[in-house]
Amino acid sequence: MLSRRSFLQLAGLSGAGFVSGVPLLGGCRTQAVDSPLTEALPDDPSKPWWLRQNYAPVGESEAHDLEVVGALPPALAGLYLRNGPNSLGVDTSHWFLGDGMVHGVRLEGGKAPWYRARYIKTEALGATGDALAPPTLTHHQANTSILVHQKRVLCLEEVGLPYQISSDDLSTIGPYDFSQKLKTAMTAHPKLDPLTGELLFFGYGVFEPALTYHRVDAKGVLVQSEKIPLPKAVMMHDFQVTATHVVFMDLPILFDIDLAISGSGFPFRWAPENGARIGVMPRTGTAADVKWIEIEPCFVFHTWNAFHDPKNPAIIHLDAIRYTSIWEKNSSDFNTDGRAHRFSIDTAAGKVGLTQLDDHIAEFPRISPRQQGGVYRYGYCLSTDGVVAADGSLPAFNHVAKYDHQTGKRQLHALAAGQELDEAMFVADPAGKGEDDGWLLAYMFDHADNRSQLLVLDAAEISAPPVARVLLPHRVPHGFHGAFVPAS
Ligand SMILES: [Fe+2]
Repeated sequence: MLSRRSFLQLAGLSGAGFVSGVPLLGGCRTQAVDSPLTEALPDDPSKPWWLRQNYAPVGESEAHDLEVVGALPPALAGLYLRNGPNSLGVDTSHWFLGDGMVHGVRLEGGKAPWYRARYIKTEALGATGDALAPPTLTHHQANTSILVHQKRVLCLEEVGLPYQISSDDLSTIGPYDFSQKLKTAMTAHPKLDPLTGELLFFGYGVFEPALTYHRVDAKGVLVQSEKIPLPKAVMMHDFQVTATHVVFMDLPILFDIDLAISGSGFPFRWAPENGARIGVMPRTGTAADVKWIEIEPCFVFHTWNAFHDPKNPAIIHLDAIRYTSIWEKNSSDFNTDGRAHRFSIDTAAGKVGLTQLDDHIAEFPRISPRQQGGVYRYGYCLSTDGVVAADGSLPAFNHVAKYDHQTGKRQLHALAAGQELDEAMFVADPAGKGEDDGWLLAYMFDHADNRSQLLVLDAAEISAPPVARVLLPHRVPHGFHGAFVPAS
């Protein structure tokens, strides 16, 4: 494993050199919602796909008293937030390296009082996103996901510390390090236990330690940080937790020092020859307790859930979007097709069974947060009817899918031609009793007017027309993950 010092020497860097005095946000625009704004989509063919069409960045903005089509449920009260890359003035060398921008819509009393698009004011804002930037825990774009924990809103990117923002106006408060206890990066996919209130997550690094597991108690105190050795430094995007165990995925996307030094942008490559393993550890265990089980090489960005088999607790079912291979050309090629799978991890026999749940392309899995770690019935995700992008970008997702693991059936919400979805996240009805009593919230971009809307679907009847659509003043670029901050 490479040390941080030797990496810096190889890269010709001598130490920290934060970008300062970044020119911020000259030319923010404020757009009244009823002003027609049908701008042409940026489509410079000399630029890579993540800087064209609806992946291209937009400026900061805000709008008030948004038009709502349909009826927003009054019980859906709070702030919907979604994070994603949105480069500030610099053509980044990889989609993952764009500056983080949060797009938020406030919902209250059946109305949508405002929309805001705000950069996360990180130390890396406006920098090139070069993979050889000083490897500190605060020099990153914070562009991947959002966690609401202990009433804090944290913007996450897996290479560093979270950045906290205000839910009042999306302004940036600064890095958050759990009272100086968090000394590693933090995954963009932490898990909150709905029963105990614990927050579980990991951090990985291209330097030692390659993997560290963290446990935060219900009071928000980081009480355990456990270093876990790995054979090689890998990219590890997600993990899972059950009521008693955590599940790690050591999959073959390897850190490549030659790629890092070459400045090609993103220093990881698909390396199936490295093999693949799933590791299971008690939630309060140590590195010595991890049981690693070999699996066929594959990659998983995202998971729905994990839970113990009710009839045989030694078996953990892990539901995930599995790719048979990825990035075979290069790390900007997302023209691959993940599909829903169940890994059934027999911890007693040391074997992993694999079941493909269906044939449809799927990504951005979500569940009701109340079901995290336990037996669950419904999994939601995006899907597409086969429209795969030729330029290496993600498929144009034009369906929301709902898997019913009790009946084995799948329900779809289909969009009209020219409409493209981003992640659909489940928000529970505070008064609801059923697992799917709630709504699915997603930004939808429409080529008809080059603007976006916030769709609100009834999660119990996703095939029905949207309960409500909140019309936004301009487009929201395709991005990553969201969160909902309930009204307090
Ligand atoms: Fe993710």
